[in-house]
Amino acid sequence: MCGIIACIGSDDAVGELLTGLENLEYRGYDSAGIAVQNGSGIAVRKKAGKISELKDTIARDVSNGTIGIGHTRWSTHGPPTDKNAHPHTSRTERVAVVHNGIIENYEAIRRKLIAEGYEFRSETDTEVIPHLVEYYIDQGMGVEEAFKTTVGELDGSYAVALMVHGTDTVYAARQDSPLVVGVDDGRYYLASDVPAFLDFTDEVVYIENGEFARVRPNELVITDRDGNVVDRDVETVEWSAEETGKGQYAHYMLKEINEQADALANTIAGRIGEDGTVELEAFPPGTFGGIDEVEFVACGTSYHAALYGAQLLRRAGIRTYASLASEYDTSTVSDGTLVVAVTQSGETADTLTALRAAQDAGAETVAVTNVVGSSAAREADHALYIRAGPEIGVAATKTFSSQVVTLALLGHQLAEDLEQGRPREDAAEFFEELRKLPDHIATVLETTRAKEISEEYFDKKSYFFIGRDNEFPVALEGALKFKEITYEHAEGFASGELKHGPLALVTEETAVFALFTGQNGRETRKNAEEAHTRSADIVAVATDGTDVGEFADNVLWVPKTHPDLAGLLANVQLQLVSYYTADLLGREIDKPRNLAKSVTVE
Ligand code: F6R
Repeated sequence: MCGIIACIGSDDAVGELLTGLENLEYRGYDSAGIAVQNGSGIAVRKKAGKISELKDTIARDVSNGTIGIGHTRWSTHGPPTDKNAHPHTSRTERVAVVHNGIIENYEAIRRKLIAEGYEFRSETDTEVIPHLVEYYIDQGMGVEEAFKTTVGELDGSYAVALMVHGTDTVYAARQDSPLVVGVDDGRYYLASDVPAFLDFTDEVVYIENGEFARVRPNELVITDRDGNVVDRDVETVEWSAEETGKGQYAHYMLKEINEQADALANTIAGRIGEDGTVELEAFPPGTFGGIDEVEFVACGTSYHAALYGAQLLRRAGIRTYASLASEYDTSTVSDGTLVVAVTQSGETADTLTALRAAQDAGAETVAVTNVVGSSAAREADHALYIRAGPEIGVAATKTFSSQVVTLALLGHQLAEDLEQGRPREDAAEFFEELRKLPDHIATVLETTRAKEISEEYFDKKSYFFIGRDNEFPVALEGALKFKEITYEHAEGFASGELKHGPLALVTEETAVFALFTGQNGRETRKNAEEAHTRSADIVAVATDGTDVGEFADNVLWVPKTHPDLAGLLANVQLQLVSYYTADLLGREIDKPRNLAKSVTVE
C-alpha cells in the first residue's frame, strides 16, 4: 500500500516528483523518497516521516535532472525507517526501484542473492528487485531483458518502476497493483493513481495486469507478457487538479462532506429515465434477467453501504446478503448468483480476493467503484461507477452516500429485469425523492448543529450509535467514522440489541446518538430511554417533525424524505459530528494514525 510516481523528460524532475508524492500521500505516509538521474549518477534521497520532511532535506542538496522516480510508503515489510523507505538501489547504485505491492517469494530470491554475495540494506521485500536486475545485467543481459526476467520471477502484486544510471528510460511493470501513465507532449509520468500528475496533464493511458511499459522522452511502448506491443488509446480524465486540492476547507474530509450534494447529483445524472425506469450505462435492460440472488462483498465503510444496499434490495423482493470481504465464502454461489464488490478505491485486497473467489465459483460479478480503471473495475464482469469524484481524506464520506444511491439504482434495475422491464411499483415516488436528495443534503450542511453538539460532548468516555433497519448500517458507519478520526471509543448497535449486553457499559460518561429517520421510531425510542434512565446523554438524529420526547437531550434534524433515503441524511450529520469532535481534539483528520486510504494488503 504505497504510491509510486515517475517523470520522464521533465525540466524539473525533483519538483514534479515531490508534487506527485504530495498528491499521492493519501496512499501511505510513513516514509517517502525520490531518485533522480543527474550528471554524476542516480541521486537518492529518502526519509521516514511525512513528505514535508523529505522536502526539507531535498531543498538543501539535490541537483536536478530530467528523469526520476519517487515513492510514498505505508509499511508492510519492515518498519517505517529511512533505510526501508524507497527508492531501493542495487549494490553499485546503478539501478533504482520504487514498488507498490508485495513480493511474496522475496525470501527465496533474497537467499539466492545472498549466496551470490549480495548484501541487503533494508528489511523490505522490494530490495530484491534492484539487486536481481543488476545480477542479470552483470550476466550480460540488456536492461530491458534483465528487468523482464526479474519481474518474471516475482510472485505477488506489484506496480514497479525502475531506472538505470546512464539511460533516459524508466521501465515499469504491473500485476495486481494500479499503474497509469500520464502523457504530456513527449513528456511522461507513471503513477499509482491519476491525481499524482493531474497538475501536469489529464491525458492518461492505463497499464493492465501483466503488462510492461518502456518510457523515455517522446516514446511510450507497452508490451504484454509475451513481448507483443500493445496499442492503447490515450484517454482524457475529467477530474481537475483543483478538484483534488483542499480548496477553502481546512481538511479534505470537510471538503468531501460538503461535496456530497454535488457528488450525488453526479451519481444520479442521466440514470433515471423519463418512463420511471433505471438507465445504468453499463447494463442494457434485461442484463439481470437470470439473477435470483445477490451477494455484496466489501470492507469498512463500503461494507456499511453494502448492508444498507442489501436492505433496499431485499425490500424489493431480491434475496440479498452482504458479507465482509475478508469473511466471504462462496458456498452459496449458484448459477443465478450476482456478486457485487463494493469498493471505493477498487484496489482493496480483501475485496479483490472475494471478487476473484466469486468468479472462480462461477458467479457473475459487478464492481461498484469510484475509480475508473481500478483493479476491481477491470476484473469484474461489469463495472458500475459511483461517480463521487476523487476522495483524498482517509475517512470515506461522500463515497458512502454515492455507493448507497448506486446500489439503490442497481436494485431498481434488478427488480425491473426480473419483472420483464416493468419499474417497481414504488419507483416513481422513490425517484422523485432521490432527485431531491442533493438539495436535502445541502439543507443539512447549511443548518447543521453538529459543531455545537461536538463542543458539548467531546469529553465523553464512550459514544454509542443506535438505529434500526437502514439506520443500523448508518449507526455502524457513524461509529466507524467516529473512532477512526477521533481515536475515542465508539460502537454502533442495532437499537434492539442495546438491552442484550451493551447497556452494561452505559454510564453518565456515555453519549448515545439515536437515529429516528426510519419507520420504527417507537422501538428505538424505548431503547434510547433505557440508556437515558441509566444517565447517558441522548442526541437524537431525527426527521423534521418526529416526536423525540423529553429523553433526547439534543436533536440534529434532517429534512423529510423517502424512508429508504433518510439514513443518508442522518449519516451526513454523524460525519460532521465526527469531524468537529476530531478537530476539537486536535487529531490528524485527513490522515488518522495507523490507517491508509487504500488497503492493498490482506
Ligand atoms: C473508512 C474507510 C475504510 C474503507 C475500506 C474499504 O472511512 O475508508 O473502512 O471503507 O478500507 O475501502 P474501499 O472502499 O476502497 O474498498
